[in-house]
Amino acid sequence: EKRTKILDILQSGEVGTSTLVKGWVRTKRQNKNVAFIALNDGSTINNIQLVVDPNLISEVLLKSTTTGACIAAKGELVASQGSGQKVELMVKSLEVLGEADPEKYPLQPKKHSMEFLREIAYLRPRTSTFSAVFRIRHAMIFAVHNFFNDKGFFNIHTPIITASDAEGAGETFKVTTLDLNQVPRTEDGKVDYSQDFFEKETNLTVSGQLEGELAAMALGQIYTFGPTFRAENSNTTRHLAEFWMIEPEMAFADIDDNADLAEEMLQYLVQYALDHCADDLKFLHEREVEENKNKKETERPEMYLLDRLKFVVENDFERVTYTEAIDILRNSNPNKKKKFQYLIESWGADLQSEHERFLVEKHFKKPVILTNYPKDIKAFYMRQNDDGKTVAAMDILFPGIGEIVGGSQREERLDKLEQRMAEMGIPSEELWWYLDTRKFGSAPHSGFGLGFERMILFVTGMTNIRDVIPFPRTPGNAEF
Ligand code: 4AD
Ligand code: MG
Repeated sequence: EKRTKILDILQSGEVGTSTLVKGWVRTKRQNKNVAFIALNDGSTINNIQLVVDPNLISEVLLKSTTTGACIAAKGELVASQGSGQKVELMVKSLEVLGEADPEKYPLQPKKHSMEFLREIAYLRPRTSTFSAVFRIRHAMIFAVHNFFNDKGFFNIHTPIITASDAEGAGETFKVTTLDLNQVPRTEDGKVDYSQDFFEKETNLTVSGQLEGELAAMALGQIYTFGPTFRAENSNTTRHLAEFWMIEPEMAFADIDDNADLAEEMLQYLVQYALDHCADDLKFLHEREVEENKNKKETERPEMYLLDRLKFVVENDFERVTYTEAIDILRNSNPNKKKKFQYLIESWGADLQSEHERFLVEKHFKKPVILTNYPKDIKAFYMRQNDDGKTVAAMDILFPGIGEIVGGSQREERLDKLEQRMAEMGIPSEELWWYLDTRKFGSAPHSGFGLGFERMILFVTGMTNIRDVIPFPRTPGNAEF
């Protein structure tokens, strides 16, 4: 006999149907006459209630049906009296598939801190919160492919191991087959990579963009969706060493087309979650309301999760240039005491997260697309504007998140690109293949990268990026 998923039972289970369910026990309440077991199988946030007559099921069996144990239960669906669901299962037979010693099982039916759950990341999908987050994450993966497929973009797999550092920030993880205990060296003392598997110094990719650009120069519109790796030692709630990035690239598109695509994509993804993840979002929304219940009015968020999501799909993003943003910051006094004064002296400084948050959360109160940054704080491949000072860069800032998208129109003019690389000390020999696209049939093109986990942060309302990826990779954290 096949099991029925709890999702299907709760959606369309008919009273009187004989049913087999399998799952993990969340809670059990028991008195002399009856035991109630809340069972979850991961197919939905909701549990099915099992009603057990202790006279029908052996005491030993019922005793090992503890929180965390995996069980199979067979019985008949009956109308539910107040479990909030239409049906529950009147159990006729029960089997314990895997016990969970209550003395040792770390997930007891009580509130655990997020820090504690991070230490047991291999078990946390068994909680309501994390199962909701990971189901939403799945839906978002699907939505990304839907969005681009519908628009005629082709999905391209770009290499994970590469010899280039697309962002030029030097934050790469090295990949080598050389024995670190006896690294071969050339006569002048340098590491002799000719003895390495790739006969070259290689690293894990920080971005699929450069290869994506090559593909766009043939297929027109492409997107990548793959893991990217950054060895930046920043222990923040927004950074991972291993994260997933979506990088579309379009031929014949300028910075405005790029902004249009990014805005449409972000709104599509949020709308998709609203349409397909209603139960999970409702749970996370209520969790947020609950967590803020005892806070002072002024410390509570202006909007809770579902309202934030609806707001983003219903309102156009604000589009401003870096220079306009700097002017706004200069003339603002967000907390009366401290002005963003150092920016007054220095047009050209990179925005700190406090500036980004001020623009998005206090000034515009909506997502912001910031364009035309100073060239010196951006990557070599961005298209130089006619003013000689700025490049056609584009960052999208989200409330509560900060930068969620980074992109640009690319420099398609060979001479300008070579000149910029020389200025920035990027050896053109290493990127000859990239430069070749500017020699042979070059075309204006644009693209961007969406940090997938930052998107999941926004859609779920979680506040730490470690809590939206099943197995987070951060400094010192690679065991499981
Ligand atoms: O702004 P970034 O570095 O841009 C690029 O990599 C470009 N090559 C993208 C492109 O134009 N094709 O990264 C893009 C996005 C950021 O906006 C952020 O959302 C996310 O990737 N991101 C990170 N997410 C988690 N952890 C990190 N360490 C991240 N670094 C960037
Ligand atoms: Mg960026």
